[in-house]
Amino acid sequence: MQVLESLLNDFTKELGPINKTADLLNLKAKYIGKQGPLADVMKNLKDATPEEKRTIGAKANELKQQIEALFSQKMQEIELADINASLEKDKIDISLTDSMLEKGLQAAGYHPVTIIQQEIEDIFISMGFEVLDGPHIEDDYHNFEALNIPATHPARDMQDTFWFADKKHLLRTHTSTIQVRGMKERKPPFRFVGPGKVFRCERTDASHEMVFHQLEGMMVGENVSVGNLIYFMKTLLTEIFKKEVEVRLRPGFFPFVEPGFELDIKCLICGGKGCSVCKQVGWVELLPCGMVHPNVLKAGGIDPEKYNGFAFGLGLDRLVMMRYGIDDIRHLHGADLRFNSQFKSF
Ligand code: PHE
Repeated sequence: MQVLESLLNDFTKELGPINKTADLLNLKAKYIGKQGPLADVMKNLKDATPEEKRTIGAKANELKQQIEALFSQKMQEIELADINASLEKDKIDISLTDSMLEKGLQAAGYHPVTIIQQEIEDIFISMGFEVLDGPHIEDDYHNFEALNIPATHPARDMQDTFWFADKKHLLRTHTSTIQVRGMKERKPPFRFVGPGKVFRCERTDASHEMVFHQLEGMMVGENVSVGNLIYFMKTLLTEIFKKEVEVRLRPGFFPFVEPGFELDIKCLICGGKGCSVCKQVGWVELLPCGMVHPNVLKAGGIDPEKYNGFAFGLGLDRLVMMRYGIDDIRHLHGADLRFNSQFKSF
């Protein structure tokens, strides 16, 4: 009983100056651990009278609970102090002042492709389109098969594909994969766009990159016509360039549309005289499009007798180049801050 009387006092005294978790745990073990005085008392109880067992046992339990309570309280205090100390130590100044800018620190900004992508998304959202996303890694079915490009189709050679070693997966060569997933997940009528990176194993030059960006669009309903397609494309281009741009439609072949078109715009870099971007022809291929092929609708679970639609695949990089007067697509992925920092910041 004597040992117990002084135990709480001793513990409290030793507890006071402790400010580290490890020391606290040691102290707890010292007092109420297996080798500690409390355990000793309990062991010796076996030789005590039943009366002593009751009083001493009760006292010991009470003491153990008090020590545990003090221990938890101290533990919380230490943890809180640790958090406060690390907050203080890792404090960062998130205010960007003019003087910091003068020292050469730059405010972050969006990449020009992101700027254009967001603008176009907004234009389409205002015309009632959804914005969808899709995976970069695809399978044969979504990139080719469901888009009316069977295994033996020569159109497969139109797109130089990065295949994975398993020969089953690939990096998507176009955002038309988003059409396939989009159709399966909804019932007509619907309209959506799907922007994103696409990949082709091509030789790079001023107007070709292995990684570039497209924005797919699709509208399906009961009476969708070429007239609707032209209307949406013209509205889009006028909004983007903030002026009437000269366009021309040529027949174009893509297995997933029938009829298919190539929509070209008069080159805004050279005004039509010919330059490296328009490959000296004065026109830039900007917008392949067409009426969705019945086989594609079928693959998407849509009845081609009842519904039809249009689709297009807008090349975002060329649009960026036209808008900002950039004459080489390779600047876009050059990661050169002198280039990137010329665009609108947040
Ligand atoms: N997916 C085609 C490409 O990347 C573009 C396209 C999309 C053409 C939709 C027609 C309709 O070449």
